[in-house]
Amino acid sequence: MTGFSADWLALREPFDARARNPVVLDAVIAALKGYPSIRIVDLACGTGSTLRALAPRLPVEQSWRLIDNDLGLLARATSSTHPANVAVAGVPLDLNRDLEAALDGPVDLITASALLDLVSEVWLERLTVEIVARSIPVYVALSYDGRTEFSPANSLDTEVIAAVNAHQRTDKGFGAALGPTAASVAIARFESLGYSVVRGESDWVIGPQDRDIQMELLAGWAGAAREIGELSLADAIGWLTRRRDAVTAGRSSIRVGHVDFFARPIGTR
Ligand SMILES: C[S@@+](CC[C@H](N)C(=O)[O-])C[C@H]1O[C@@H](n2cnc3c(N)ncnc32)[C@H](O)[C@@H]1O
Repeated sequence: MTGFSADWLALREPFDARARNPVVLDAVIAALKGYPSIRIVDLACGTGSTLRALAPRLPVEQSWRLIDNDLGLLARATSSTHPANVAVAGVPLDLNRDLEAALDGPVDLITASALLDLVSEVWLERLTVEIVARSIPVYVALSYDGRTEFSPANSLDTEVIAAVNAHQRTDKGFGAALGPTAASVAIARFESLGYSVVRGESDWVIGPQDRDIQMELLAGWAGAAREIGELSLADAIGWLTRRRDAVTAGRSSIRVGHVDFFARPIGTR
């Protein structure tokens, strides 16, 4: 599975859905209460995970503009069945190049999940300026924040996660990525530009029975640690073998730290 493959997105979606911070989600719903209809732009929609999480909570007509540069993911997002009050249009766009076009036209809410940690400070600045200039609220979910905890702990866990977090800062298509700092940088920026922000943790809680996602994560992390060159091959293999053995034995849990936030112009409901 690759970083954005449909299989990987399907594997993570139930963990994302459980992790979404309820206080942040409630703030989104409360802010939209009373709207007769809602126009939403979902940035980097993947297969439509944000739509599936949010649409059932909004009991009004909704029109969603789903943006992604992966045509296969976009096709899945637009072709799945949606509730009768939800209209969906897919727009293929490279958000690094065409962010401004993605936000064009009347919009009541911008959403993004598992996107922000991929973007650069320069791109985030473009995003915040465009959103604030249009005075639109924004719901940003599931930004990785650098906290990964293993239970039971094993030797080299700390080194591997430090390497993974360094890898998270490399270029993911938007310039050098903000990685684990993305949510806090974005929140500070929105606040400095006059937005009020509700934030909360949205950690993945992955139990011993969740073997498939653990195996995927471990392989990805060992690969990232190797790629960034901070772990010898022998250490990476040794760590991966020990962690996989714990998963197979049904005695491995992992907590992965994420942050959600909802930012809106002060003075709006
Ligand atoms: C980690 S996935 C998250 C997908 C979805 N939001 C979710 O929560 O399941 C990141 C998404 O960003 C999209 N993406 C990455 N770079 C992009 C770009 N330059 N323009 C548009 N979409 C991009 C990928 O195709 C992928 O769908």
